Amino acid sequence: MKRIGLLTSGGDCQALNATMRGVVKGLANSCDELEVYGFMEGYKGLIYGNYRLLNPKEFSGILTKGGTILGSSRQPFKQMRVPDANGLDKVEAMKHTYHKLRLDCLVILGGNGTQKSANMLREEGLNIIHLPKTIDNDIFGTDMTFGFYSAVNIATEAIDCIHTTAASHNRVFIVEVMGHKVGWLTLYAGLAGGADIILLPEIPYDINSVVKKLEARGKAGKGFTILAVAEGAISKEDAKLSKKELKKKQAADAQLYPCVSYKVAAEIQEKTGQEIRVTVPGHTQRGGGPCPYDRVLSTLLGAEAARAILDEDYGCMIGMVNNELKRIPLSECAGKLKTVDPNCQVIQEAKEIGICFGD
Ligand code: F6P
Repeated sequence: MKRIGLLTSGGDCQALNATMRGVVKGLANSCDELEVYGFMEGYKGLIYGNYRLLNPKEFSGILTKGGTILGSSRQPFKQMRVPDANGLDKVEAMKHTYHKLRLDCLVILGGNGTQKSANMLREEGLNIIHLPKTIDNDIFGTDMTFGFYSAVNIATEAIDCIHTTAASHNRVFIVEVMGHKVGWLTLYAGLAGGADIILLPEIPYDINSVVKKLEARGKAGKGFTILAVAEGAISKEDAKLSKKELKKKQAADAQLYPCVSYKVAAEIQEKTGQEIRVTVPGHTQRGGGPCPYDRVLSTLLGAEAARAILDEDYGCMIGMVNNELKRIPLSECAGKLKTVDPNCQVIQEAKEIGICFGD
């Protein structure tokens, strides 16, 4: 007999359902008796006891379904130890729900913030397994997160569509790609979409270097240019500011520009007089069903989570390292960010073919 809880927390992404399916199918295949409790809207459901006993059959037919059948919400880690508006101790409330249902394990699907809370619950004595979800691919300890390649596909398609119109009109276009504080999604979508300039948070940009690349393309007779700009891209000057100064600067920029791409566009325009178009695919990058790669990854991660539960091996994240499934202790990965190494081979090869990173 196994009794597990499932929750999906933070920004959603593709393959959340596919991953839960993997967990439940893996367990159902080996356990005579299985009870699965689904907590609604992430940690909120665990805090306020909003859950449903789910029939394992409900996990059939959801491999390709986007979003999450449990719903999700953001419950910032920093707020977890702060009582709610009614004075409720959230951590104690979560522990209470867990013990009341006599769970063997709580399986938590989420990104970095979610993982920190998962680790805190582990420290509080609960049996936890974390599954790495995010289009940002920024979770330390795993090479790959589910959602990432599905989002790469969507962002790439956006760049592909912009390519044809940019070429027809001889225009400079910026496509802004999600990814929060890291540049994985922009780097991969930028490469896949054939962007000429890629700006990442990990490589602060110098607008003069961007302009130089634009001029070089013009001289070479290339009428259009595509920039893939990460939502977290930052200029060299801003990167030198202290945390406090940067916050102030970003607040001032937010009054002038809806997002960083418009700032980059204005900077280019000021230097060249050229009109720039900006496209922001935004949350479409998290939408729709998972791509085949993510379906496979999620199924494998889910199945390995089921195996870990059967082994009673808790307190870990199930990750993929060098194409092998691994159980990484939460104590080793929680609270760390996986960023793009500016000297990695992908960037070196991209530079080799002439892609400008604004450095
Ligand atoms: O972490 C996933 C992500 O989509 C980031 O790429 C993005 O910065 C953020 O979530 C957007 O969050 P929200 O959905 O709360 O606007």
